[in-house]
Amino acid sequence: ANNRTYTMVKPHAVADNQVGGIVKMIEEGGFRIVAMKKTQLTAAQAGKFYEVHAGRPFYGELCEMMSAGPIVAMILEKDNAVADFRTLIGSTDPAEAADGTIRKAFAKSKGENAVHGSDSDENAEIESSFFFSGLERY
Ligand code: CMP
Repeated sequence: ANNRTYTMVKPHAVADNQVGGIVKMIEEGGFRIVAMKKTQLTAAQAGKFYEVHAGRPFYGELCEMMSAGPIVAMILEKDNAVADFRTLIGSTDPAEAADGTIRKAFAKSKGENAVHGSDSDENAEIESSFFFSGLERY
């Protein structure tokens, strides 16, 4: 559905007990949490999720970072979810993230940038299906 997006809190932010602060910003931003789970990816699963970035110089580092500890995966619902969520999270590079964004508050670097956000409705659906079964998505 085009009113949904996929996000995950990255391992460094989970390890630093920032899940609550991030969820608070998500809910205060007007998003409903449709589904949520804490899980851990293997490096191979992270590689599959980020397949589109295979070949980029940071791909190996990205797969290692994303499998280093548990993540918290969520499906979120709101009108214009994909675009509005990308506004809420801010730029990939925290140095460029606007005040009031999740990455401004919680990101440590371009790689350790606290949260993922789908970049299109199509990818939101693919990414949601990667983590959640049909039963979990209502
Ligand atoms: P995300 O939105 O999850 O999608 C791709 C990820 O690759 C991105 O967040 C970062 O974690 C990572 N990434 C993007 N650019 C860089 C970079 N220049 N160096 C390291 N990691 C990066």
